[in-house]
Amino acid sequence: MHIGIIGTGYVGLVTGACFAEFGVNVVCVDREEQKIAALNSGKLPFYEPGLATIVEKNLKKGLLRFTTRLSEAVGPSLVVFIAVGTPPRGDGSADLSYVEDVAKEVALNLEGYKVIVTKSTVPVGTGRRLKELIRENLEGREGSFDVASNPEFLREGSAIEDFMRPNRVVIGAESPQAIAILKDLYNPLYLIETPFVITDMETAELIKYASNSFLAMKISYINELSRLCERLGADVRTVARAIGLDRRIGPKFLHAGPGFGGSCFPKDTRAIISLARENGIDLKMIETSVLVNEEQKTLMGEKIKAAMGPLEGKTLAVLGLSFKPNTDDMREAPAITIIERLMGEGAEIRAYDPASIASAKKVLPKEVLYFQDPYEAARGANGLVIMTEWNELRNLEMDRMLKLLREPYFFDLRNIYEPARMREAGFKYYSVGRT
Ligand code: UDX
Repeated sequence: MHIGIIGTGYVGLVTGACFAEFGVNVVCVDREEQKIAALNSGKLPFYEPGLATIVEKNLKKGLLRFTTRLSEAVGPSLVVFIAVGTPPRGDGSADLSYVEDVAKEVALNLEGYKVIVTKSTVPVGTGRRLKELIRENLEGREGSFDVASNPEFLREGSAIEDFMRPNRVVIGAESPQAIAILKDLYNPLYLIETPFVITDMETAELIKYASNSFLAMKISYINELSRLCERLGADVRTVARAIGLDRRIGPKFLHAGPGFGGSCFPKDTRAIISLARENGIDLKMIETSVLVNEEQKTLMGEKIKAAMGPLEGKTLAVLGLSFKPNTDDMREAPAITIIERLMGEGAEIRAYDPASIASAKKVLPKEVLYFQDPYEAARGANGLVIMTEWNELRNLEMDRMLKLLREPYFFDLRNIYEPARMREAGFKYYSVGRT
């Protein structure tokens, strides 16, 4: 089968590379010439474990191609995925102008039957609107087509695994032909008994928001509970583990921390709230989760200040900057808000991250100093903050760290170390929801 993918952002690129890995002929298109030139020489615009290898392999095999010409991606393809960005507008709603522009262009290049699929997270009703838009832009030419929704559930850092072994595949479409074609495309997953949810477009579009909002709620739930744990002298990790052992609750997404970030949860929660409001409904649980998340970031700054006293003239080493490990993505990373707050109080920041220094430089205040090594970042600092739980930060040499720090303050915002051991080692250790 031949497919086209429009947009070589995170979702488009992972989707294209993984389908090529399944043996599908994939043409990815993006209007950014530099990006396409880089991709054609095997260079990726972001870091994702395992992706470079499958891109390179399938480029060589000729199963994966990159172009700036949309017609090359649409012409030979039976399925065309739209995977361009849907950035949030000021009111939190999703900006659909890129998706709509692409749909019009696809219409102009449409010959023969094709299934046009939205992969980007789009507000409920978008699929139906695109159908109209494409029909209007056919300009009298022959061209039968169907529109479908096939939301992605890819976690950054584990995207390949999530694509190859997903919990489910959701397909929303009206026409049996479109459903059959998409099922055929996903046949390798069908063979490993992946559950398929086949539904209408509106339901498929809503599933994505509902899923991400629920996960965001779970995180805010445990973060809020961590505040009570701290007051009562309880241990949030044990609470989370024990409640998670109830299969109705499940153990995942119950790690207390500095708040959720990334390209999905903040954007999708705001978008579903705005979509619901437009339809006269207040999604109070999701609204509160967003609020709790904002508070959580503020509370991390307060925790540091309460322990260390006035921060004017003090230096903090911040280890880990990306919104989570195994990515260089700084979008809505809690590090941004927390570092700005600490600097606002007069602190100096010495930062280290294994992958995201280049992207951090674009979004953090210019006074932040960067280091290529966690120990160098810690040298002479009054305290250390673990912001992101990269594996390499889970086994720091504590004796060495203690000697390098001017004062032994240690703020473990991801609860990766044992409080008793850290205190024994000589640190003034603080974590989240554990006394
Ligand atoms: C998410 C969804 O998981 C994925 O299915 C969706 O399609 C895209 O959005 P991603 O944003 O890559 O993926 O990261 P995820 O692993 O879900 O983490 C999101 C944020 O929540 C991170 O900032 C992470 O640190 C935080 N988090 C996650 C917690 O604070 N505690 C947890 O228990 C889990």
